Amino acid sequence: MATRIKEILKTGQPSEAVTVQGWVRTKRELKEFTFLEVNDGSSMANLQVILDPALTDYDTVLKTIGTGASVEVSGTLVPSPGKGQNIELKADSVILYGDCPADYPLQKKRHSFEFLRSIAHLRGRTNTLGAVMRVRNACATAIHTFFQERGFLWVHTPIITANDCEGAGELFTVTGLDLTKPADFSQDFFGKRAYLTVSGQLEAEVMAMAFQNVYTFGPTFRAENSNTSRHLAEFWMVEPEMAFCDLEGDRDLAEEFLRYIFRYVLETCAEDMAFFNDRIDNTVIATAENIIHNEFARITYTEAIELLEKADRTFEYPVEWGVDLQSEHERYLAEELFKKPVIVTNYPKSIKAFYMRLDDNDKTVSAMDILAPKIGEIIGGSQREERLDVLIRRIEEQGMNPDDLWWYLDLRRYGSVPHAGFGLGFERLVQFMTGMGNIRDVIPFPRTPLSAEF
Ligand code: 4AD
Ligand code: MG
Repeated sequence: MATRIKEILKTGQPSEAVTVQGWVRTKRELKEFTFLEVNDGSSMANLQVILDPALTDYDTVLKTIGTGASVEVSGTLVPSPGKGQNIELKADSVILYGDCPADYPLQKKRHSFEFLRSIAHLRGRTNTLGAVMRVRNACATAIHTFFQERGFLWVHTPIITANDCEGAGELFTVTGLDLTKPADFSQDFFGKRAYLTVSGQLEAEVMAMAFQNVYTFGPTFRAENSNTSRHLAEFWMVEPEMAFCDLEGDRDLAEEFLRYIFRYVLETCAEDMAFFNDRIDNTVIATAENIIHNEFARITYTEAIELLEKADRTFEYPVEWGVDLQSEHERYLAEELFKKPVIVTNYPKSIKAFYMRLDDNDKTVSAMDILAPKIGEIIGGSQREERLDVLIRRIEEQGMNPDDLWWYLDLRRYGSVPHAGFGLGFERLVQFMTGMGNIRDVIPFPRTPLSAEF
């Protein structure tokens, strides 16, 4: 059994016999030896391997191993005289699984993220994308642990659905095709209209009405033609939904949730986070500490508008009560004014979805967005409208047909309760955590209007 390099560098002792499997990051050929830097994805660090000319096939095979080749090395650990590591591996035998020719695109030099996007199938072997994927994994683990520790049920909501949860009309349609026949794009989902889900929320509400506290964690799709560094056509969303919960409880849970994830990632991915702080954005560790130790700012939409009107600068999009906050406004509030995440509540009903609970003033809804420095909106949520008559009116006001949501309305007929939830954009979280500038670099295979690699 091969040992992971992360473990060897942590606990390996001189004269211990080990086998490692991985990919050659670099090779240095000296007169007396050849050195390989091998990485197996378990951490950022490479293990230095010493190839002695006495090894079988040294001249014919080993000396000419290419960067990117896959190898299995068995040998003995020895103290390392070099700096940066205290142990290295003296090879007794090497299996070259797959050599790698000189046209391998990841030669040892700095590559732009744009270039790396064009080789998404190989970029996981770079330091930055490797660190991103490990932090992404840690975020996902923290999310599940957080909810499981609190008794939330993980529910699996459908990807193919008939509803437009957000009512924004940004849907991809699902069309059944028989590829053995000429294409008929009018053919739909077995005679019905169907879409890729924009959010699992409505179905999560169904599940919360039986299990109280639930969460989804799955892919969602938006056909918005936004080519920004914060938008994907396919992204992952985490959506908790709580019965017997109001806006206050929703807000508290969201804050505790983000704090938990940041603490977990700082503890379990210290090396990768230090890398991001050194190489990508020298504020990420301070930001994480700030989230862990300080309370988020809490303001209403109306207060947010007042603050924006008072700002000593002009915005591209002018603000007045009733307009939706643009990313420049969100970033001003979180990044410049409060310098920490800001929870904004009670938005005008006209700019929010039909399902949000109408406030007593009849003008605003019990919505909640969390705005993060550098990212803008990272979480969107609300208390849901649990009153049947109000909900039907809101659906009609937004030009939708209540009959299409008969099952959703049933939840308000049969044992309705106040309930609330939110959606966390998983990639925006990973961006926030790592400081990565472009959302396309925090998901293994980005899907955007302009991405051509499939
Ligand atoms: O604010 P949104 O649209 O809210 C919902 O979908 C609700 N149904 C959630 C709920 O209450 N259960 O989306 C939630 C979050 C946003 O705050 C943002 O972080 C992320 O999803 N998001 C995107 N992330 C990447 N690319 C896109 N195109 C995104 N659109 C939304
Ligand atoms: Mg939103």
